[in-house]
Amino acid sequence: MTERRVMVKVPASTANLGPGFDTLGMALSLYAWVEMSIADGETSIDMYGDGMEGIPQDKSNLIYKVAQLVFNEAGVYLPEIHISMFSDIPLTRGLGSSASAIVGALVAANTLIGSPLSEDRLFQIATELEGHPDNVGASLFGGIVVASWDGERAEKVRLEPPPQLLALAAIPQFQLATEKARNVLPKETTLRDAVFNVASSSLLVAALASGRLELLPSAMRDRLHQPYRAALIPGMDEILRAAVDHGALGAVLSGAGPTLLALVEAGSVRKAELERFVLSTLHKEGIAAQTMWLRPCTSGPEITVTDDRSTTFMERVKGEIKA
Ligand code: HSE
Repeated sequence: MTERRVMVKVPASTANLGPGFDTLGMALSLYAWVEMSIADGETSIDMYGDGMEGIPQDKSNLIYKVAQLVFNEAGVYLPEIHISMFSDIPLTRGLGSSASAIVGALVAANTLIGSPLSEDRLFQIATELEGHPDNVGASLFGGIVVASWDGERAEKVRLEPPPQLLALAAIPQFQLATEKARNVLPKETTLRDAVFNVASSSLLVAALASGRLELLPSAMRDRLHQPYRAALIPGMDEILRAAVDHGALGAVLSGAGPTLLALVEAGSVRKAELERFVLSTLHKEGIAAQTMWLRPCTSGPEITVTDDRSTTFMERVKGEIKA
C-alpha cells in the first residue's frame, strides 16, 4: 500500500476584533501544519514546535479524536493513523491555536477518506467543538469571517480583508486559558452596553467591507468583554486607549487574550513608533512580550497530498515555509 499523506497548512486567527464577541474572526499569516496518513500498524502521533511537550501523544490527542469524529460521521472504520503536527502559532495566547488544530484535523481526516463531508459540515463540527464560530470560521475560510451560532447551526459571510490592512500582535510570554478569560465575564449586561456593541460591531463590519478604514478607531470599541478581561492583562487598558495616538487604526484584545492586536495601514510611517509604545507599556508593567507583524491571510487551509517517502515531516513543513 502506498503511504498517501495529507498535509494541511492552516492559518492562525484573531477573534472578536473588539466588539464582535464570538462573532468576528480574521485569519492571520501565521500557520500550523497537520499531516495525516493511514497506519499499517499502530497509531503514532508526533507533535513538533514550542509548547507541544505537554500535549498527549496517545488516542486522547485532540487531532486524533477530531479525525475519528470525521471517520465515524462518514461511516469509515480507520482506528490507526499517523499524525504529525507542527505549529508556529503560540499556544493559549489568543491566536486561535486550538481552532487551527481542530480545522487542520477535520480537513486532513476528511481529505484522507475522499472528502465525503462538505465544507459547511466541517464548519458546523468545528463550531460545536470550539463553542463559538469566530476562530474556526477564520481558519477554515480565510479572510474576515462574520458568523453567528445559535447552538444548532452556524452561519457565516466571508469578507475579503482590505488589502492595506496590517496587524501588530504583541504576544505576552504568559499563557491565559480561554476558560479563565470567559469566567471573568458577567452573565448579564445593560441595554446601553449591548446597543453600544451592536453599533460598533455593525459599523466595523460595514467599514471593513467597504474599505472605510478611517472608521476603525470608533468601530473597534467594545464594552462586552474587554473591560472585564483587562484586569488579567497588565498594560492592556493603556494600549487599547492610546494605540491610536501612536499610529494604530485601533487596538483590541485578540480573542480571549493575552495577545493584544493593533491594526494599521500597511503604508503607515508610524509602525516602529507603535511597536515601541506597545512593548514599552507592557514592559512598564513587568510583562515580557514578543511582537509579530502579520497580514490577514486570505485563504483557508492549503492541502497537499503526497506519497513522497524521501523527506521528513519537518522537511515538508519547511518546504511549505520557504514557498
Ligand atoms: N470569542 C472567544 C472569546 C474567542 O473571546 O472568548 C476565544 O477563543
